Amino acid sequence: MKTAKIIIKTKNHKYPIIIGNNLLKRLLNILKNHSLNFNQCLLIIDKKVPKKFIRKIKSSLYKKKTTIYLFDSKETNKNIKKLNKILEILLQKNFNRNDCLISIGGGITGDVSGFAASIFKRGIKFINVPTTLLSQVDASIGGKTGINTKFGKNLIGSFYQPSLVLTDIDFLKTLPKREIVCGYAEILKHSLIQDKKFFLFLDKHAKKILNLNNLLIQKAIYKSCLIKKKIVEIDENEKNLRKVLNFGHTFAHAYEGTLKFSKKLNHGEAVLLGISTAINFSFNKKLLIEKDYILITNHLKSLNLPNKIKNYFMKKDINKILYFMQKDKKNKNNKINLVLIKKIGYTTYNYYAEINNLKKFLLNELNN
Ligand SMILES: NC(=O)c1ccc[n+]([C@@H]2O[C@H](COP(=O)([O-])OP(=O)(O)OC[C@H]3O[C@@H](n4cnc5c(N)ncnc54)[C@H](O)[C@@H]3O)[C@@H](O)[C@H]2O)c1
Repeated sequence: MKTAKIIIKTKNHKYPIIIGNNLLKRLLNILKNHSLNFNQCLLIIDKKVPKKFIRKIKSSLYKKKTTIYLFDSKETNKNIKKLNKILEILLQKNFNRNDCLISIGGGITGDVSGFAASIFKRGIKFINVPTTLLSQVDASIGGKTGINTKFGKNLIGSFYQPSLVLTDIDFLKTLPKREIVCGYAEILKHSLIQDKKFFLFLDKHAKKILNLNNLLIQKAIYKSCLIKKKIVEIDENEKNLRKVLNFGHTFAHAYEGTLKFSKKLNHGEAVLLGISTAINFSFNKKLLIEKDYILITNHLKSLNLPNKIKNYFMKKDINKILYFMQKDKKNKNNKINLVLIKKIGYTTYNYYAEINNLKKFLLNELNN
């Protein structure tokens, strides 16, 4: 399949996303072609990335001095201890600003690695090789990095753009189905916030995309990256427009926190539940038009995607969910900032919900 390239241009940075098959064996050439030189590199590799991929990366970088750190990717490991471990390796090996950190893994590995790269000696080169669908369509683009704390998700972090994103679709072949669904959550989000035509394409082909039909999955990844590109180029630091990328996420982060970031609900599944809640709330507030409400809810139901919070939570969880929602970075004056949807492709990011009002709504959702 033809390799595709998207250039992300923010105020101070410009970097390519390269999307295609069998890119790993060309890694060194790709780095050279993009003038990415370094003396040594730290490869932070998700432990579950199969050895065959690691062998390809190692043999492609055989001329370079490399150190490998295997990362156990779970939300509970996206923490300050693991960050510290990475910084210690960089210090022990005497890395400097001409060196490079390469993340090979999903959003968790990428977020922690990117954050380490951003603060080590005030910033070393960072290359992201996303290996999950979610990180290929979302987490690897746009420069958000960070870690979780007991107070909530991603509360410590930075904006730090990578020098290159290498999206090899072959990684998806070993990804569990559940993780493909998680990635689909962010693809769907991108269509809902920006592009009805893309939503209709997904509605028609979702089953084949979830089964990794090569042409359709590449198109879905490419389209998704283009939507994210458009948004982060306008508003890199999330002052306004970029907030729309949080559609469904204020609910999602609270759902994950309430379940203690356990495997009961992966990030992408929480996003699907969050999208579903945001859609119901938008309709409840008479913001979302009925025709699109029906289209979206039918889409979620027909694919059997997580869409009912009552399957995960009970009444006793509501206060915890609201506690996490109140910790969100975007809130103001004790009101919770939500991105809501008016019709497919059109959102509003300036809605502030009263806590009691949300509580009533969520209790009602649990009964439906
Ligand atoms: N920075 C951003 O802009 C941004 C955007 C969206 C999400 N995120 C973050 O991304 C994280 C979720 O990312 P994720 O869904 O990629 O999770 P993840 O990194 O945990 O990966 C999911 C699972 O897949 C495994 N895995 C990874 N690659 C594999 C492969 N090729 N084959 C087999 N198994 C593989 C991992 O070990 C893990 O068990 C969350 O922490 C979320 O907050 C960040």
